[in-house]
Amino acid sequence: MRIGILNSGGDCPGLNAVIHGVVGAASNLGWEVIGFRDGFEGLLPPGDYQVIEPKDTVGILKLGGTILGTTNKSHFVAKLGAGTEAEMAEKMVDKVGRTMKHLEIRALIVVGGDGSMSTAWHLYKAGFPVIGVPKTIDNDLQATAMTFGFDSAVNCVVDAMDRLHTTAMSHKRVMVVEVMGRNAGWIALWGGMAGGANVILMPEIEFSMEKVAEHIMEREARGHHSTMVVVAEGARTPEGSLVTQERCSKTGDVTLGGIGNIVAAELEKRTGKDTRACTLGHLQRGGAPTSLDRILGARFGVKAVKLAEEGRFGRMVSYQAYHVSSASIEKAVNKLRSVEPDGEIVATARAIGICLGDE
Ligand code: F6P
Repeated sequence: MRIGILNSGGDCPGLNAVIHGVVGAASNLGWEVIGFRDGFEGLLPPGDYQVIEPKDTVGILKLGGTILGTTNKSHFVAKLGAGTEAEMAEKMVDKVGRTMKHLEIRALIVVGGDGSMSTAWHLYKAGFPVIGVPKTIDNDLQATAMTFGFDSAVNCVVDAMDRLHTTAMSHKRVMVVEVMGRNAGWIALWGGMAGGANVILMPEIEFSMEKVAEHIMEREARGHHSTMVVVAEGARTPEGSLVTQERCSKTGDVTLGGIGNIVAAELEKRTGKDTRACTLGHLQRGGAPTSLDRILGARFGVKAVKLAEEGRFGRMVSYQAYHVSSASIEKAVNKLRSVEPDGEIVATARAIGICLGDE
C-alpha cells in the first residue's frame, strides 16, 4: 500500500508535525508514504515527489514551514474569494489521474486551508481517494473547531504585543498592530486578548474611528497614556472597503494589508497622540510550532492515516470538543468560520474593558 501527502496553500507551523504523524502511522501499517512537492503541483506528470521514510522525519516535529514545500499560487488554485469554489479544468484532473495511477497511490492526504479543501473536494468528486487535513493560521475553516498553526500565530502576536507594549508605555504612544487572518478576526481577537490589547478591530464587527478615538481619550483622562490597538488585516475601513496590496491575476485573490497604517494615521489626527503602526506580516506564519500545534498536527496526521485505512475518503480530519474526528470535506468549504460578534469570547473581551470600535 502506498499513500501520498501534500501541503497546499500558505504554509503554517505544524505542517511537519502532520507529516511526522502520517509517516509514523503509515509505517506501523507497513505502508509507504510519497510526499508531493509544492502542493498539488507535485502531482503534475511525471510527478515531483520523494519517498518519506521514518528516518526522514527525525527532528522535523519542531520545524516550522514544510519539508515538502507548498504554494498558494498554483495551477490548481480553486478559490475565487472567501468561501467560493471554482471549477478545476478537466485536463488538470486527467493529469492528477495519470500521476496517481503511475505511482499506484491508494490514498491522497491533502493538508490545506479552504482553497485547498475545495480542490480536494473536486478531486474526490472526480473519483480520487482523497482525505483532507485542515491547516491555516487564520483558524477560519468550517467543520473544525481549531486548525493547527493558529496557536503559533497567536503566540507570535502575543510576543510582539509584549514588546510593543513596553515601548508604547515609555513614549506614551498609541501603537497599532496589524495582524493576519484574512477575512476572519480570530488571530486579532485571541492575540489581542492574550497580549493585553485595549482595542481590537475585526472584520466581523463594524467599527468607527470616532469610537476608538474616544476610547483612547477616556483612557488618557484616567491616566493611561499609552494604548494598544490590534487590527485584523481583513477589517474594513469605516467606509466599508478592504485594504489590499495587490491582486493575484491567476486567482483573483487579493493580498490584504495596510489597514494598520490607515487606522494609525486617523487616530493620530483625531487624538493628537503620537501613534505608530507595526505590521507583523509573515512573522506570524514562520518559526517553530507551539507544543499545542505540534501535538495537534501529529494527531491530525495519525487520524488521516486511520481514515485511509478505513477507506473513508472525502472526509476531512476535524477537531471538536478536544477530540479528533472527521467531517465531510464539503462541510469545510461552503463558507468561512468567522468570529461570532455575539459570542462568548467577544462578550469576554468587552467585559474586560476591550473596545471593539462599535460602542
Ligand atoms: O491564509 C494565511 C495567510 O497568512 C493570511 O492570513 C494572509 O492574508 C495570507 O495568507 C498571506 O498570503 P501570502 O503568503 O500569499 O502573502
